[in-house]
Amino acid sequence: MNKNFRTSGTITTLALLLLFSTNVLAQKISVKDLTVEHLVNPFSIDNPKPRFSWKIISDLKNTKQGSYEIRLGTTVNIDKVLWKASVNSDQSVLVSYDGPGLSSKTKYYWQVRVKDNHGNASAWSPVQFFQTGLKAEDWSAKWISVAGKDTSLASPLFRKEFNLKKEVKSAMAYITAKGLYEANINGGRVSDAYFAPGWTSYKDHIQYQVYDVKQSLKKGANVIGVALGDGWYKGRIGFSNQKQFYGDTRALLLQLEVEYTDGTTETIISDNSWKTGYGPILASNIYDGETYDARLEPQGWNNIGFKENTSWKPVQELANSPERLVGMSGPQVSKHETFKALKIFKTPKGETVVDFGQNLVGWVILKAKGAAGTKITISHAEVLTKEGNFYTTNLRSAKQQNNYILKGGTEQVFEPHFSFQGFRYVKIDGYPGELKLENLTAVAVYSDMKTSGKFTTSNPLLNQLQHNISWGQKGNFVDVPTDCPQRDERLGWTGDAQAFATTAAYNMDVSGFFTKWLKDVSADQLPNGSVPFVVPNVLNQNDAGSAGWADVATIIPWDMYVSYGDKGILEAQYGSMKKWVDYISSVAKNNLWNTGFHFGDWLFYRPNDDNDGRAAVTDKYMIAQTFYAHSTQLLINAAKVLGKTDDATKYTALLEQIKAAYIKENMTPNGKLISNTQTAYVLALQFDMLPENLRAQAAQRLVDNVKDYGNHLTTGFLGTPYLCHVLSRFGHEDVAYNLLLQESYPSWLYPVKMGATTIWERWDGIKQDGSFQTADMNSFNHYAYGAIGDWMYKNIAGINPVSAQPGYKTILIAPRPGGKLTSASAELETVYGTVKSSWTIADGVFKLDVTVPANATATVILPKNDKKEEIGSGSYHFEYKY
Ligand code: BGC
Repeated sequence: MNKNFRTSGTITTLALLLLFSTNVLAQKISVKDLTVEHLVNPFSIDNPKPRFSWKIISDLKNTKQGSYEIRLGTTVNIDKVLWKASVNSDQSVLVSYDGPGLSSKTKYYWQVRVKDNHGNASAWSPVQFFQTGLKAEDWSAKWISVAGKDTSLASPLFRKEFNLKKEVKSAMAYITAKGLYEANINGGRVSDAYFAPGWTSYKDHIQYQVYDVKQSLKKGANVIGVALGDGWYKGRIGFSNQKQFYGDTRALLLQLEVEYTDGTTETIISDNSWKTGYGPILASNIYDGETYDARLEPQGWNNIGFKENTSWKPVQELANSPERLVGMSGPQVSKHETFKALKIFKTPKGETVVDFGQNLVGWVILKAKGAAGTKITISHAEVLTKEGNFYTTNLRSAKQQNNYILKGGTEQVFEPHFSFQGFRYVKIDGYPGELKLENLTAVAVYSDMKTSGKFTTSNPLLNQLQHNISWGQKGNFVDVPTDCPQRDERLGWTGDAQAFATTAAYNMDVSGFFTKWLKDVSADQLPNGSVPFVVPNVLNQNDAGSAGWADVATIIPWDMYVSYGDKGILEAQYGSMKKWVDYISSVAKNNLWNTGFHFGDWLFYRPNDDNDGRAAVTDKYMIAQTFYAHSTQLLINAAKVLGKTDDATKYTALLEQIKAAYIKENMTPNGKLISNTQTAYVLALQFDMLPENLRAQAAQRLVDNVKDYGNHLTTGFLGTPYLCHVLSRFGHEDVAYNLLLQESYPSWLYPVKMGATTIWERWDGIKQDGSFQTADMNSFNHYAYGAIGDWMYKNIAGINPVSAQPGYKTILIAPRPGGKLTSASAELETVYGTVKSSWTIADGVFKLDVTVPANATATVILPKNDKKEEIGSGSYHFEYKY
């Protein structure tokens, strides 16, 4: 071990070198990135005590917040302060409102200023706002639908003209739907959001959205026009051609609240004064795509002065339904990156195919001009066959096809409204004239999550893996975390989500996204505490309780607490976490969870014609017992954070019994497990199932197993996320790197070498001979195996949260170079600000640059060096002989 640090040619001992010498004269601090409940200026806050967060920017090292001051009022300049707080505290994340009761549908303005530990004071931040949501009694709007039975596949349009008598001071539209809606005012979309109102456990709660529409309105005549689609509510969802899972009637609920400049108000609501007709969308469906006949566009239907012909009928008002209406607690879905068409070519079969170069989720925007009645069909596929033909068999029954029928005249631009597709390639049929690259643009559509992480290394294959992981995330974070985005599935598979959650939290800010989805986990949890395979649950009631899937109820709340420091998530989910653990206890016998159906270590390595037990089958009940322990441990952790000491004591005793039962059932006295697989040892070690004295030998058995497979992994969905973590923890970093950098099947880099641009569902979605795995389960965009991203950020770059100081209030920076990498660099935007860790190894010298945001601290553990450094905020440089 070399303890010499070299700075500018001289050797000093364990000295830190401040490379980016900070300007000590500029002693200003400021605050930025103000949020309420994780959201910037949100419009529908339901929490009676909303929580405020901010970040501190400072030029000085070792900066901490000494105190903060918040003030809040209902006017933009906060001239009348309704609440203020002046507190000596370093809390800058999720500070709870503690003033008089907030009114509903009211806009509150707030700002904050801080003092630091050096005696500097920031100026007041720019004024931010949040608006409270509607209470049940604030809704005067009525649910409306087409008259009679809603049997048409076509999208109904709803319209209402209204007169505004005076100048408008403010106008807020509150809108939701059963199905999906696209709302316009005076011919313009009210927002750039798609798939509103989002997918929730609709029978329990439906979200409404709030739009500031003042700019779209004017004194005099105005019109609102809304189109509805089937979406998840009424359309095909789940297996076996299931339709109308939540209801058979698409409906709209809309309330527009206008305030005039003279202080008087006006409310326009959906009711029986609206008219409905049909338009160009003949059919639309999440899985199958959309059929749009431009000849049926009712010209000007969403503008004033449109003459409704006799096909426009009065709507029908529906009785109130029991579900709750809730404000949005997560991000909306919008358009993001666009992709130019790279290549148009003919396949050997003669198909006209376009390549966008990236497997993505969203749709193609198509320009076309031709005779009225011309039908263009766009089919979507992720891959081509080895012969180079368009391949859609793995989509199963999902058509993923958009049909556009031209109306003649000038060039038209087409895109779907209520459907999305997973694809890299499209096949075009019926295009009039010559199809040119510029006629097609692909656009990625996903939940608005800010990119929070960056990760690069000196190894291009690893960088491509990181790219694939993040595109797997984008494609499958479309309002709910899905398994895959292309075949007739696209469901909130709980096992996949729990496996990937921490990686997701590195790449993007998923705090709001999971806050929203966890409400559905609670809502769809069965009365007996069991947790469904998919959330929102569109399968059978009893499709629940599988180990490693249902444990999402404990795993993701804890992960989000650690990543974002959000104790509120633990408070909100604690009941659900506890119900889940109690459920397992209720079906366990003698503390052993050995009943019920389990998916097990899904998609583990299984060679054909296996004659020697090479298939890595791990006993399912052994797996279940480890997750029983893990969930119990997380419940104990949550109980401690929330001060529930009785529960902490009770479940700690239970955990001991669970582990004892595990050992009795699954381990020989010598420490060999009944399933000699990587997943068996990984889960036993990750969840501390074994007595201390038997852990090293178990880790050695894991290493031997990996070597026995020629440095290949054999793990499935449950073992994979922890495999490299366990190897690192027990000192086998080299083996972890061997697995990560393995290029032959089964491995993370095998798909990369095969040209993947996303993570595949299977280790060998495309086999070495170019043929495909079985078509009934072969997605090329499935994030679960991308869970290695968590290890890459934590071990290669070395950025780790510390659960005792969650949200990266304290950061552990502990890079562990290996695998012949000569550099690695990562950045993470945390709730305190940007953390950076970037290292190089050249000419026998290790150099590390670290940045710690203000109001946070870090412990740095340098590789091949046992010294720990405690540092405050600022930028630091370390270098020494390596
Ligand atoms: C899904 C998964 C899921 C699994 C359950 C599959 O059909 O695509 O990712 O976790 O079923 O075993």
